[in-house]
Amino acid sequence: MPAKVRKAVFPAAGLGTRFLPATKAQPKEMLPLVDKPIIQYGVEEAMHSGIQNIIIVTGRGKSAIEDHFDVSFELEYMLESRGKKELLSIVRGVSDMIDVSYIRQKEALGLGHAVLRASELVGPEPFAVVLADDVIEAEVPCLRQLIDIYEFFCAPVLAVMEVPHDMISHYGVVDADPISHNGSKDRVYRIRDLVEKPKASEAPSNLAIIGRYILTPEIFNSIGSIQPGAGSEIQLTDALKHLLRSRPIYAYRFEGTRYDAGDKLGFLKATVEFALRRHDLGAQFREYLKGLQL
Ligand code: UTP
Repeated sequence: MPAKVRKAVFPAAGLGTRFLPATKAQPKEMLPLVDKPIIQYGVEEAMHSGIQNIIIVTGRGKSAIEDHFDVSFELEYMLESRGKKELLSIVRGVSDMIDVSYIRQKEALGLGHAVLRASELVGPEPFAVVLADDVIEAEVPCLRQLIDIYEFFCAPVLAVMEVPHDMISHYGVVDADPISHNGSKDRVYRIRDLVEKPKASEAPSNLAIIGRYILTPEIFNSIGSIQPGAGSEIQLTDALKHLLRSRPIYAYRFEGTRYDAGDKLGFLKATVEFALRRHDLGAQFREYLKGLQL
């Protein structure tokens, strides 16, 4: 039996430059999709996937994330004394959600470096990595889908999705062979190679790595062994390429819809779609959109 995936690491120490000036004094992870911060969607996905511990890698200016998952006595007292029971339960729900620990990445030296900062809190066990900017809507939570594949193959698994040719250079891309699993051959792949942000003409496939990973603790050695890569950052993709020399890694084309909430257009699309799906807002918002002279 493979060891259980109990912990999820959320690297959240990036600078969020694509959202400046909004991210000058507040973390990108706290930007709301309708009324819930981006990072909370990821934390809820992890919880619904059976994860018990969340480890958030933070940096300067990220204290709002810690406050968000902490108890707010003044706010709770005020809501209680004014009889606002529904809001009180929403606010309590956030702090009661799950066990969260924090570790700092003093300098934004790359995603791989951020993951390495979590090594002591993770310890010698498999773990998930969640990039909160990727918000995923799925019937079975994306992380749960990956954990099921991890438990079958006892090896690291990366979430991938097909992206159009002209977008592929924005992603880490896998060169991979499809393998049969559960009667189909179009979801699980065994990875042969990985390339970070290839030119479209040189991309080995249209399968892009998105922000969900199940990793095993050997990745920490690999991260420690590599040199800075693209953008002079310690890249997680480079560490995975290093790990691939000594053990198999799988890719899983997950079922669901992914929104790139770290990008302005992706953020707007997610906001509109999430608002349309809300019971309390959807109908009115739909009417409003219909009335726009587009
Ligand atoms: P991104 O490149 O998407 O995020 O990194 P960013 O750097 O914050 O944003 P831009 O590109 O400047 O707008 C992917 C994830 O890795 C984390 C980020 O917080 C994000 O969740 N990250 C990145 C770190 O934690 N540390 C780093 O050094 C780099």
